[in-house]
Amino acid sequence: MRRKLVIGNWKMNGSRAANSVLLSGIVAGFKSGKADAAVCVPAPYLAQCEAELAETPVAWGGQDVSAYAAGAYTGEVAASMLLDFGSKFAIVGHSERRAYHGENNELVAQKALAAVNAGLVPVVCVGETLQQREAGKTAVTVCLQLQAVLDVLDTAALEKIVLAYEPVWAIGTGKTATPAMAQEVHALLRKQVAERNAAAAAGMQILYGGSMKPENAKDLLAQPDIDGGLIGGAALKAEDFLGIIEAA
Ligand code: 13P
Repeated sequence: MRRKLVIGNWKMNGSRAANSVLLSGIVAGFKSGKADAAVCVPAPYLAQCEAELAETPVAWGGQDVSAYAAGAYTGEVAASMLLDFGSKFAIVGHSERRAYHGENNELVAQKALAAVNAGLVPVVCVGETLQQREAGKTAVTVCLQLQAVLDVLDTAALEKIVLAYEPVWAIGTGKTATPAMAQEVHALLRKQVAERNAAAAAGMQILYGGSMKPENAKDLLAQPDIDGGLIGGAALKAEDFLGIIEAA
């Protein structure tokens, strides 16, 4: 039985003061029942997460990770640095990185590989744009995105990653994929992983992201292949984030 996992992606939001309120609210209300919880924060706040979450069941991580281990890569953050501050996760290939920072499938795959090699759990994001969906290209888009990652990870490494399906048109728009739409893509992704490693596919947590809120979380999370959520806007309020965890 796969455990549910709810991860907050804070994106470029927060301040020391606001984070403290949010983190203490999450910790106070979090009951580790059927679901695990984590927050992926801007890199400058990793130390704050380590200080405020270390003795709690809430995990944390970064929103990106360099494909390189160390060296002359100005502005990049290495997997070892995320680990230095106790991170468990690193989001890779978020659609905002793909769209605004030109990250292609190959780079995303290298980032996933760097994370796994260092001992971080990459949360590999895939998802189609509205244009791709309307052109009937959802399956081919997400499968190509996933395949690039499958191509660089060895079979055993597939047990050490988390996937997230985030339709680009649902991110920050208030439009959510219907549970059936999301389930269809999640099942497809799981099948694709199963072709490489059936056991890894059966155990893999595949999260849904895109305007998930306490009100719609229950129906999405009731789908057989939806194992949790990657939450943007609703992760910035403890009450909403906890509401989604409760729905899981
Ligand atoms: P929203 O929940 O704000 O739509 O963002 C989803 C997302 O991009 C999480 O990574």
